[in-house]
Amino acid sequence: MQPSQAASTEIRVIFTAEQIATQIGVVARQIAAAKLDNLLVVAVLKGSFVFAADLIRALHNVGLSPEIDFLTLSSYRKATASSGTVQILRDMELLVADRNVLIVDDILESGRTLAFAKDLLAARGARAIRTCVLLDKKVRRAVQIDADFTAFDCPEVFVVGYGMDAGHRFRELPYVGHVVKT
Ligand code: IMP
Ligand code: MG
Repeated sequence: MQPSQAASTEIRVIFTAEQIATQIGVVARQIAAAKLDNLLVVAVLKGSFVFAADLIRALHNVGLSPEIDFLTLSSYRKATASSGTVQILRDMELLVADRNVLIVDDILESGRTLAFAKDLLAARGARAIRTCVLLDKKVRRAVQIDADFTAFDCPEVFVVGYGMDAGHRFRELPYVGHVVKT
């Protein structure tokens, strides 16, 4: 794909804004078909904020009226991914007991973040928990977990844009890309 410029950095586009929008429509229809009444969307911050914002509007377009809350998690990794642990940096506000919950995250990689979020909401008494990710890096899994809804399978590169960062940069890009040169 075409490399593009962002503040003098070369980013190779992996998924364009148009491809993302189309795929989010597909995922929204899959979620609607799952018939989860009284749905609460829990966006895992920071990375998923752009995806979640587009997804809830796509959910509206297929007839759903989800509530939304945010859970800020941080994964601390050492040299190897297997030493990572997840911490709550900022907790959500709404109660999940007896609710159908859709956890939304940007990338499913080792699986630790999503597994942590799932366990947390299960321990708080959620009725049904479904998970939705923009990108799935399948071969990087350390914990056995799959997302119920996935927009794209992701190549084995570090990606940025569409909410995702590298050292706090590039979240503003409207596409998902790979940093080729800084
Ligand atoms: P996991 O716990 O290993 O599944 O990590 C998932 C989290 O790590 C994601 O929610 C992202 O915040 C972050 N992450 C993993 N891979 C990338 C990447 O390629 N670019 C930006 N963030 C990433
Ligand atoms: Mg994240």
